[in-house]
Amino acid sequence: MEKVRVNLQERSYDICIGSNIIEKIGPKLKSLSSCRKIAVISNPAVNRFYGKKVLNSIKSSGFDAIPVIIPDGEKYKDISIVQKIYGELLKHRLDRKSALIALGGGVIGDITGFAASTYMRGIDYIQIPTTLLAQVDSSVGGKTGVNHKLGKNMIGTFYQPKLVWIDIDTLRTLPKRELLAGLAEVIKYGVIWDAKLFAFLENNRDKIISLDRKALTYLIKRSCEIKAAVVSKDERESGLRAILNYGHTIGHAIETATGYRKYLHGEALAIGMRIEARLAERLGFITGRTAQRIKALIDEYCLPSEMPAKINLKSMMSSMQLDKKSVAGELKFILPERIGKVRIQKMALKVLSTDLRPA
Ligand SMILES: NC(=O)c1ccc[n+]([C@@H]2O[C@H](COP(=O)([O-])OP(=O)(O)OC[C@H]3O[C@@H](n4cnc5c(N)ncnc54)[C@H](O)[C@@H]3O)[C@@H](O)[C@H]2O)c1
Repeated sequence: MEKVRVNLQERSYDICIGSNIIEKIGPKLKSLSSCRKIAVISNPAVNRFYGKKVLNSIKSSGFDAIPVIIPDGEKYKDISIVQKIYGELLKHRLDRKSALIALGGGVIGDITGFAASTYMRGIDYIQIPTTLLAQVDSSVGGKTGVNHKLGKNMIGTFYQPKLVWIDIDTLRTLPKRELLAGLAEVIKYGVIWDAKLFAFLENNRDKIISLDRKALTYLIKRSCEIKAAVVSKDERESGLRAILNYGHTIGHAIETATGYRKYLHGEALAIGMRIEARLAERLGFITGRTAQRIKALIDEYCLPSEMPAKINLKSMMSSMQLDKKSVAGELKFILPERIGKVRIQKMALKVLSTDLRPA
């Protein structure tokens, strides 16, 4: 098993990465926690494959295990679902010593983390991410939250898990489109931090798509190392952590303008990365060749790289103005300087208007 440590003083934790380890979560928790009751939050799709394995494993290790199943989908990343979770936790008398497990993708992880951070002023939680996006990104770093109808992730907390337990074999049941969307986040790490990872993605497409274990372990571990390094330096996004938002400012606005229906998060991110690379080229920060390499890699993994023909630009602009990172009409954009290095650039939104036009 591979291990990556997220160093945050008393909030430090391990990310464990392995093949076929989901049923070993019970013994691991026994060595980690003195809690008695654990609620496992999941959705029907993930629960069908992995619910029993996790529940049985934690029960055999002596814990009381309570399954809590919530509906599947981004539209349920909503405060009303958190209320339902609180209801289940209270009904089963989970107390301050209890813990939650997030078993699922980023939606389950974000909701569970938020519920854990607020239930009885904060209880422990463990991430068992089952999508690639959650394994390389959302399960690490402690950003939790839910959406509001006026904007994505507008309600939330910073709250670190006690453990991230990644079984790469859960990706075998993940729909291909979801796998590719997760790879968008890995491409992001290549652009912002690691030219070697970027080249690995360029040179190993077939192995990655066919879920070769060695290739997957490398790219998941490397992504977690990068996220851990950034988060350890800047837990609450007062500086460096902003670089993880490469592609996201525009990506989030696309998701909001299309009502979270047309694109998966990683797909909207892919378009955002392409547009922000084109902007960096227009401003002279990168060469046309570098911008082209980024677009080619996005295309290679069958991700969208152009703005959709029919998109409400006004709604995109206003959602960017509402972005948590927007201050007095200016937004921080993360723009590449070369593959493996980005800069944080404050810019007025209007600078963007030509870049956002549909292809
Ligand atoms: N907290 C953070 O730092 C952070 C970072 C990036 C993204 N996010 C959030 O993550 C969310 C997106 O996460 P996601 O892409 O994982 O989507 P998701 O959680 O909606 O999962 C995608 C789909 O895959 C299914 N699924 C999950 N694992 C499966 C498996 N192993 N086999 C079969 N089906 C499986 C789910 O049921 C769902 O239908 C967004 O809400 C985004 O805002 C958070």
